Amino acid sequence: MHVSNVITSRVRALALLLLSGMLLHSCASGPATLADGVPDAVPPKAMKDRKELAIRGNTRNVALVEKQELREIRTPDVIFVPTPYDVVDRMLKLAKVKKDDLLYDLGCGDGRIVVTAAKEYGCKSVGFDIDPQRVRESLENVERNNVGHLVQIEQQDIFTLDLSEADVITLYLLRSLNTKLIPQLEKLKPGSRIVSHDYDMRGIKPDTAFTVISNEDEYEHDIFFWTTPLRKEEESDE
Ligand SMILES: C[S@@+](CC[C@H](N)C(=O)[O-])C[C@H]1O[C@@H](n2cnc3c(N)ncnc32)[C@H](O)[C@@H]1O
Repeated sequence: MHVSNVITSRVRALALLLLSGMLLHSCASGPATLADGVPDAVPPKAMKDRKELAIRGNTRNVALVEKQELREIRTPDVIFVPTPYDVVDRMLKLAKVKKDDLLYDLGCGDGRIVVTAAKEYGCKSVGFDIDPQRVRESLENVERNNVGHLVQIEQQDIFTLDLSEADVITLYLLRSLNTKLIPQLEKLKPGSRIVSHDYDMRGIKPDTAFTVISNEDEYEHDIFFWTTPLRKEEESDE
């Protein structure tokens, strides 16, 4: 055998050995936890805080973490791309978020919108995402910012949700997905606000739509805003 082939096969064998060692180690270390994939994410103090949260009544985040309920549901309908923070600020300002509002972010990604709403406006918010990794990141974000008393994160398919309790809905999905949400959005209370990053809804007239340039990425971002009851385009054009 040629000497270079011998080296290559030895390198490959070593790599395989290392990989199987890593796999064995991960199997031996038990079922997935919040900290998986997030190195050093859950220091002992945070675990204690979570238990205290449970005592104070915010049980759903605790349930997710402690019962390890996170699971693969199905492939997300759209990948995670975060809304730049300055665009988040514009969206929340446009929605005139108030302390006594309940805000839902449908497809919450790393939880930046729900965490910002809680920190800046003191309102309650719930972030829903189907992807377990995004749920973990959101939970981390909630914990890092000490807003667990205001923010809940749930692993849910947004198309199965009852939205009727929400006062404000934030979206960064796709036009087709916003449009698919219309039957659920029509069940919001009158006067509820919906604000969407980059995508409108087919057949529904926005109250306002404008473009901002983010200082973070220097790209243009469209923002669409609706209040309920939703106005169908053909009705409003008459
Ligand atoms: C473009 S990201 C927006 C994240 C965040 N809202 C923001 O603006 O920064 C869309 C998110 O929707 C989630 N998602 C996609 N399909 C979903 C579904 N059917 N139910 C719940 N979440 C979903 C993805 O996992 C992803 O995190």
